[in-house]
Amino acid sequence: MTGAATERLPVAVVGAGLIGIAWAICFARAGYPVRLNDRSDEILAAAREVIAAALSDLAEFDLLAGHAPAEVLARVRPSTDLARCLDGAVHVQECAPETIPDKSALFARMGEMAGPETVLASSTSAFVPSLFTGAVRHRERCLVAHPINPPYLVPLVQLVPAPWTDPAIVARTERLMVAAGQSPIVLQRETDGFVVNRLQGALIHEALRIVDEGVADPGAIDIAIARGLGLRWAFMGPFETMELNAPAGIRDYVERYGGLYRRIIGVEHAEAMWTGRALDRVEADRMTRLDRDRIGERQRWRDRRLMDLVASLKAAEQRTRWPAA
Ligand SMILES: NC(=O)c1ccc[n+]([C@@H]2O[C@H](COP(=O)([O-])OP(=O)(O)OC[C@H]3O[C@@H](n4cnc5c(N)ncnc54)[C@H](O)[C@@H]3O)[C@@H](O)[C@H]2O)c1
Repeated sequence: MTGAATERLPVAVVGAGLIGIAWAICFARAGYPVRLNDRSDEILAAAREVIAAALSDLAEFDLLAGHAPAEVLARVRPSTDLARCLDGAVHVQECAPETIPDKSALFARMGEMAGPETVLASSTSAFVPSLFTGAVRHRERCLVAHPINPPYLVPLVQLVPAPWTDPAIVARTERLMVAAGQSPIVLQRETDGFVVNRLQGALIHEALRIVDEGVADPGAIDIAIARGLGLRWAFMGPFETMELNAPAGIRDYVERYGGLYRRIIGVEHAEAMWTGRALDRVEADRMTRLDRDRIGERQRWRDRRLMDLVASLKAAEQRTRWPAA
């Protein structure tokens, strides 16, 4: 299958909640006809409104690849008829509720309805694919494609195969994600939390311990990431950061600072307070900063701030390019 042909074939998005809406925007912006499925016309009509608002914000930040919002919106066809949505689709992105019974039932139905060539990908955050794809017809075309919210602004997608997933399906999904403007990474095997939540979990674990020990308050930790580590993390990862922070590279960094990290890690395995007083402190602190009923408004603000950042990073890539070899 050629890249150009793949780009024109329809993609089905099943579940039009937070993530389904975001995937629909991603695929439609990249030129794919999108069939958006959910259980009722009311849910689909509300989803269309949210998509229209996000597209107008994206156009404002010049993040629609030069297309008009109405043109992108027209590529999204909502329907409550799952079989119609799957008919002829090259890829299905499942975005239904995060329970094993929901995922298993939906994958079993989709396996029966979709042609054997259609890739069945789940957005699940918490489940490895072998937990709900074992009994699916042609289970070798099933995998997890886990996005970071919202995927039309944060391009990382984690592709996680089950033990029975065909490597050719993983490669095909990787190509489709690249064509949709995403940055896929492929895991070699299943692991709880995939890569991102293992990394994020380690950070949250240590943040809770710092609060519990009374070393710093929750607001200070948010500043440490947002105004410190996170600035570099917007365009490079921890290994490249290490390499650039010692004159002779990564081994030099480890020789200089490895002792410090080993001392910290020695105590880091101690239990963190995921409940109890550390969580009480973090929650109380957050409630002084944001009213519960303004979370939706703050999410929209976060997405607009991300649009601004993504637009700036794109411009920075042009201005401060690393010369090609
Ligand atoms: N919210 C996030 O930040 C995030 C990030 C990455 C991945 N995910 C994953 O994406 C998936 C969806 O999460 P969400 O936050 O969008 O949830 P959500 O509750 O906002 O949306 C779920 C949608 O699925 C619909 N639905 C339920 N049963 C259905 C069915 N049988 N057929 C079609 N539609 C059905 C619901 O009506 C609802 O609109 C979950 O697996 C979640 O783990 C979420």
